[in-house]
Amino acid sequence: MSLPLEGIKVLDFTGVQAGPACTQLLAWYGADVLKIERPGVGDITRSQLRDIPGADALYFTTLNSNKKSLELNTKTPEGKKILEELIKGADILVENFGPGAMDRMGFSWERIQELNPGLIFGSVKGFGENSRYSDLKTYENVAQCAGGAASTTGFWDGPPTVSGGALGDSNSGYHLLIGLLTALIDRQKTGRGQKISVAMQDAVLNLCRVKLRDQSRLERVGYLEEYPQYPNMGFGDVVPRGGNAGGGGQPGWVLKCKGWENDPNAYIYFTVQDQNWARTAEAIGHPEWANDPEYNTAQARQLHLFEIFEEIERWMADKTKYEAVDVLRKYDVPCAPVFSMKELAYDPDLRESGTIVEVDHKVRGKYLTVGSPIKFSGFKPEITASPILGEHTDEVLTGLGYTPEQIAELRAKKVVSA
Ligand code: COA
Repeated sequence: MSLPLEGIKVLDFTGVQAGPACTQLLAWYGADVLKIERPGVGDITRSQLRDIPGADALYFTTLNSNKKSLELNTKTPEGKKILEELIKGADILVENFGPGAMDRMGFSWERIQELNPGLIFGSVKGFGENSRYSDLKTYENVAQCAGGAASTTGFWDGPPTVSGGALGDSNSGYHLLIGLLTALIDRQKTGRGQKISVAMQDAVLNLCRVKLRDQSRLERVGYLEEYPQYPNMGFGDVVPRGGNAGGGGQPGWVLKCKGWENDPNAYIYFTVQDQNWARTAEAIGHPEWANDPEYNTAQARQLHLFEIFEEIERWMADKTKYEAVDVLRKYDVPCAPVFSMKELAYDPDLRESGTIVEVDHKVRGKYLTVGSPIKFSGFKPEITASPILGEHTDEVLTGLGYTPEQIAELRAKKVVSA
């Protein structure tokens, strides 16, 4: 089956999560993605959080499936020459080194354009080029703190809290991916490549845009009526942490179900949808609330919200999270069980859809990983194992015209791995 990005050559100079998440999607959708890694070392995640001695860690395998690996020291003259040759034949180069590393290596954007004016160059950094923090190396949680996620996540009586979702890393990679594909379409018209830069701070803030909205609302009216602080706790001059409050016009909360005393995930998320209030009231055993002026408008309910949530918890005290959702779905209540990672890992629907897959790895054997969360009508991406460090070194160098003797010489000089 022909895949949409077949024929697109990607040089993958990425590491850890932000860059690899981007190039993994390119690889899933058919691009020829070549990871260029330091000889003998490779992407640092190969050895971080290892669960099997000597095998690539799941940290690496989860982010690098469907790619190839070339071990190449790009700081040696011979390594630079090979990289130049690769750049001349590539469509896209992606990197997420610390600030200035590409320039120090001798591959500035200007130099890349000289080598291949059609090349699209994607770069992830922690902060924008004009930022006063542009020199900072950045990891996930640094970005979450810098981009507004941490200050607005958690409970009002606790510290800023980071999310389990990779808002800084994978999210930045996906922003970059949108930029790369846009530039690819542009190149069809102009023939020119361009540089796409994504700052993790910007990508986090882009996902926290409703909190930016709330800052403007707060400055105008002095309160945020959908936050638990309203009306009794009061507001300062910054968007507060709102616990589990819904971020839009439909209030919601995480509510206890049967077994919550022993199971940390025996909860559901319950949304009180204004346009569905009459049925919601019926579902939770209070049909009389449908027409009661104390409850039948969003504004009136706001004052009773936690009383309503307590009532729903009473109603759910003898129901598991699954049973509760099974009743509520009949009344069109927007809700879902709080699923643990274990439940998700073994979820038959997610397995069937390919969102979670098992893959065969030469060293690890079978391992569980994510598949494409984007579904296409025309094809289903097949997820294959991440490459062993340097697995494709000979193949790539031979493709560039190097003889076995020349490759042996490069090995002796440690330009590629020994
Ligand atoms: N051959 C020779 N040298 C190589 C190489 C290769 N194939 N691949 C990488 N290197 C070198 C780089 O040139 C750089 O050298 P220099 O600093 O002497 O110029 C060095 O290896 C790697 O540097 P760096 O990326 O800064 O590594 P780090 O482990 O210290 O920092 C990060 C890791 C993630 C903090 C940093 O890369 C960063 O801030 N990246 C941008 C933001 C980002 O994407 N973060 C998300 C991570 S999920």
